[in-house]
Amino acid sequence: MRILLYGYGIVGKNFENLLQIVGINYDILDDSLKKTKNENSIVYDKVVICSAHEEYRKDMLDKLKKKSILYREITFYTECFFSSTMKGYIFAHRKKVLQAIMKDRIESYLRIEYFDEQKKICEDYPFIDLERINYVYIETTTYCNLKCNHCFRTFNEYESKNKHMSFKLFKKIVDSIPYIKQFVLCPQNVGEPTLNPELLDMISYAKKVHKFHRIEIHTNLLSSTKEYYLDLFNHGLDLLIVSIDSFEENTLNKTRKGTKIEELIDNLTFLLNIESLKNKIAVRISISQYNEHELPSILKQLEKFGVQNIHLAPIIDLYNKNIEVEEKSLLYWEKLASGFSFETMVINSYEYRRKNDKCTLFEDALNFNVLGYLVPCCMICDHHEQNFGTIERSSLKTILKSKKYIDFKQKIYSIFPPRICHDCLYYPIIKNNI
Ligand SMILES: C[S@@+](CC[C@H](N)C(=O)[O-])C[C@H]1O[C@@H](n2cnc3c(N)ncnc32)[C@H](O)[C@@H]1O
Ligand code: SF4
Ligand code: SF4
Repeated sequence: MRILLYGYGIVGKNFENLLQIVGINYDILDDSLKKTKNENSIVYDKVVICSAHEEYRKDMLDKLKKKSILYREITFYTECFFSSTMKGYIFAHRKKVLQAIMKDRIESYLRIEYFDEQKKICEDYPFIDLERINYVYIETTTYCNLKCNHCFRTFNEYESKNKHMSFKLFKKIVDSIPYIKQFVLCPQNVGEPTLNPELLDMISYAKKVHKFHRIEIHTNLLSSTKEYYLDLFNHGLDLLIVSIDSFEENTLNKTRKGTKIEELIDNLTFLLNIESLKNKIAVRISISQYNEHELPSILKQLEKFGVQNIHLAPIIDLYNKNIEVEEKSLLYWEKLASGFSFETMVINSYEYRRKNDKCTLFEDALNFNVLGYLVPCCMICDHHEQNFGTIERSSLKTILKSKKYIDFKQKIYSIFPPRICHDCLYYPIIKNNI
């Protein structure tokens, strides 16, 4: 099956996107590019002339004939109903989409069947605003090679600690995500994701199904070889966020204990030397009283290495060690970073809390732990604290209609919120004060 696409305006480009997802072989004939990608004497199964202007039809047909192109059928499209939100749906239904293309009824197919599916999804998930969800977190491992001082994993024992998620469970979760929009996938929560022996396959699969417009992970960049990190991108990773809190041995012992700084710098600079990766790498600095004074020198070093993107986040003091920074420091970091060449993102948990009347960590993300339990947010590492059920035993649809989920949703902004939300940094202040 081979298609020749003629006309490379918006209609043509949309149609090309569709063909790419379905996996159909095609060539492009384009007047403005003055080239035909394939000028061999192929007999095309179908020539699709794409133009938003009906009046160009005759002219384009004449031009086509002059080029002596061989084809079995010809079709004229004045529109191509395609948007990136449909990608997952199109991929999952690619056989039907292909048939609709061959029968010249792709417009009506997408308009009717795609919208029927959207309606059904809304009916199937009556208690969650899926349009609001931006992130899907899947905790692919809870093993780690470091013992960071601020991390929940370091000083806690819990059932899901030291587990790898299997590819099978990961696939089941990804398959359960409805085709409502494109999400960001973070195949990680608390643990070092690159330790999961199946992470590369997981990323490839998630990329292939077209449900995510970005796949990103945080990493300590110390678990594997340079080649492995490079391979993450070859398998479809879009953003690698490297956690670096200091370059000083003494400070690292108090913050990210176990960090071999030379090895970390070696791996980071190897990746940053690859031009195409520069914009796919960010460095996250989690800032506490231990390392705040080092920020100017850390930023200087990172700029020297060629880092382009920086995420600055205040430490959440899980163990009341009095190591938190003051909120006003975040303004100072922003100002400081603006003196460098980075794109900077300051992750301001205080602001989330003040500005939003809902908990964004709960409302804007789906969080699956390593055992497949859907938990309310990424702050919950031990699913015994709160969970809504596991994908191992139920479908996402069932979990999101369960009594546990509905009860949590009703309680969270009431005067008696769930226990886990009481002292949480992300619990919205406005409702708290009611
Ligand atoms: C939980 S780790 C998991 C990924 C990987 N192991 C790493 O360290 O990058 C993701 C990020 O969360 C940060 N983090 C962990 N505990 C934190 C806390 N209590 N407050 C703020 N950031 C924290 C880590 O420093 C790291 O940058
Ligand atoms: S490397 Fe990441 S997961 Fe491991 S202890 Fe540190 S913050 Fe936690
Ligand atoms: S308030 Fe905190 S614990 Fe409760 S759902 Fe939001 S982030 Fe999670």
